[in-house]
Amino acid sequence: MTDIILNTASTSVIHCGEGAFSKYAPRIEGRKFIVTDTNVYKLYSNMIEEYFADAPIKIIPAGEKSKTLSKLTEILNAMADASLKRDCTVIAFGGGVIGDIAGLAASLYMRGVKVVQIPTTLLAQVDSSVGGKTAVDFKNVKNLIGTFYQPQEVIVDPIFLKTLPTREIRCGLGEIIKYGALDKNIYDKLLICL
Ligand SMILES: NC(=O)c1ccc[n+]([C@@H]2O[C@H](COP(=O)([O-])OP(=O)(O)OC[C@H]3O[C@@H](n4cnc5c(N)ncnc54)[C@H](O)[C@@H]3O)[C@@H](O)[C@H]2O)c1
Repeated sequence: MTDIILNTASTSVIHCGEGAFSKYAPRIEGRKFIVTDTNVYKLYSNMIEEYFADAPIKIIPAGEKSKTLSKLTEILNAMADASLKRDCTVIAFGGGVIGDIAGLAASLYMRGVKVVQIPTTLLAQVDSSVGGKTAVDFKNVKNLIGTFYQPQEVIVDPIFLKTLPTREIRCGLGEIIKYGALDKNIYDKLLICL
């Protein structure tokens, strides 16, 4: 397992490797609020309940169509209804859509609460969960409304990729190949995998 410290405006810790979820999820402190989507919840509700028992949860429909201001408002409503305070942590448990919208909700609620990204798609694991970009789509423009807001931690565990449809694996591989074209180290590693 690898731990990477990213020194950005605020520091993010990335825990990466097999077993990262079972090791680091129980260490997330304080009151937690889970955001996930319908597909991910169907597959991982047992895990969510085991590791985040009693945490309030907001489940939104899967897919890009949920990256809207109205779903963002629903998430913020659910956070307020759960009486969350500034010391809470939003857990973004899902693909890039969940990471983007839950990250945005965390950046807005009470002027910003902690967010931990638990990416469950390959694309989210290699790209969107890291770097702190959050957004929803607006007026048919992708990512028109958003913030830069670094996650406290990112927990990247390949266990979640076992249930990922081939199409989604291909999307993530596309991103990896793109990075390979830009970075010789990644390019060389990709060649070894072939
Ligand atoms: N913030 C950033 O820097 C950044 C970078 C790239 C992309 N993005 C955003 O990411 C989004 C795309 O992310 P995505 O490709 O992860 O899409 P997604 O979140 O819609 O997930 C794709 C599908 O996979 C399902 N899924 C998720 N995890 C699963 C699992 N473990 N097993 C089975 N099914 C699973 C989801 O329910 C969904 O149907 C876009 O909105 C894009 O704008 C953000």
